[in-house]
Amino acid sequence: MSNEPVRKVFIKTYGCQMNVYDSDRMIGILSDEGYITTSDPAEADLVILNTCHIREKAAEKVYSELGRIRSLKQKHNGEMLVAVAGCVAQAEGEEIVRRAPAVDLVFGPQSYHRLPELIRRRQTNGQAVVEAEFPAEEKFGAMKNQVLGRQVSAFLTVQEGCDKFCTFCVVPYTRGAEYSRPVDQVIAEARAMATAGIREITLLGQNVNAYHGRTADGETCNLASLIARLSQIDGIERWRYTTSHPREMDAELIEAHAVNPKLMPYLHLPVQAGSNRVLKAMNRGHTAQDYIRTIERVRAARPGIAIAGDFIVGFPGETENDFRDTLELVNTIGYANAYSFKYSARPGTPAASREDQVPDEVKAERLGRLQNLLAEQAKGFLRSLVGQTMPVLLERAGRHGGQLTGRSPYLCPVHLEAPGATKGDILDVVINGVSANSLSAHIRQAA
Ligand code: 5AD
Ligand code: SF4
Repeated sequence: MSNEPVRKVFIKTYGCQMNVYDSDRMIGILSDEGYITTSDPAEADLVILNTCHIREKAAEKVYSELGRIRSLKQKHNGEMLVAVAGCVAQAEGEEIVRRAPAVDLVFGPQSYHRLPELIRRRQTNGQAVVEAEFPAEEKFGAMKNQVLGRQVSAFLTVQEGCDKFCTFCVVPYTRGAEYSRPVDQVIAEARAMATAGIREITLLGQNVNAYHGRTADGETCNLASLIARLSQIDGIERWRYTTSHPREMDAELIEAHAVNPKLMPYLHLPVQAGSNRVLKAMNRGHTAQDYIRTIERVRAARPGIAIAGDFIVGFPGETENDFRDTLELVNTIGYANAYSFKYSARPGTPAASREDQVPDEVKAERLGRLQNLLAEQAKGFLRSLVGQTMPVLLERAGRHGGQLTGRSPYLCPVHLEAPGATKGDILDVVINGVSANSLSAHIRQAA
């Protein structure tokens, strides 16, 4: 390997945290092949776009990026490999090469571990290689630990895919059926992260609270029990998990928030809509009242927990009254953080072929109203923390000299002056101010 020239890879990641995790994994695999990363696509030998297909906009961004990359490739006389990975690759396969002939490799989220082999195949056969099958579940086992570098906080994918088939969503088609990694594999990876200096781990899955991995004894382990086992690992002080489904928020997981101090007080629990009629049409399998009751139980277990949600406005057939039910639910819950979107018709999903699509102007208007309310709530949540003392995990140098940025238990960033402190330290601080999306704090003086 040492005689080979250094090759450079540029990876651009779109969409969710699972893609961030997968991109890190690809970097790990490619570094074994002699690749180093670059932040400049112009000097890359290999460009990878790790894509997201969840909404139309996300998918279209990939094609415009491919247009830019095509001219870079021309400047390199074609000596640049262009790869499209992730969910657009899975969903569109060959179509990508037809629309963007500069693309050399197309592979879905189940094929990352075979990246070196796919590259070699491309180099020997002179044709674009498209790999969008759902092969066996070997992906995780074969994946090398990523280069964790000097990170303090890391993602760990424990579950992938979804069998819920919400009628708006492409995930069951792009990420396939639900799959949970075996418990031992997850524990081994978390241990390696602890050894590499990681202090906070976020367990990832499209439906992470539906986790049901196998133990070495052949038993099934749920997320609550997985978190309990993982919490024994020395060095990892904080655990988080995302994203959850309201139907899978079982009593044991709620109880974990009451009893496990390493489990951070933040729950991302998407609801999508507040109207029972719309929730039914979405095939969510729960009502607005079920959701509200679940949040009440979570709050009883862990008072002060930050609740985050996802919302879709303008689902086919959504009326003004349905939309008001969403606003009412938001008012009832009080969100610390939220992600909200206009409904985007995804080819192949049941809702896409409905005749009663909502006009874009109506969606835009509703989204504006919802986002104003959510922004107000987010600000209110940050303000409610002022004056409180809380442990902050320091993650990186701040923008000004001497300043450090860390994370509160509630996930929001905290800026502070902490002479002598370093990344990875957990300090007790007093929150003394709020800016757009973050907090400022000073170190608590010993009593
Ligand atoms: N249109 C708009 N938003 C969507 N989401 C998923 N599918 C769609 C779609 N077709 C949103 C949901 C989900 C988040 C990841 O993306 O709110 O929770
Ligand atoms: Fe998509 Fe629904 Fe599955 Fe979430 S639960 S990934 S929204 S189908």
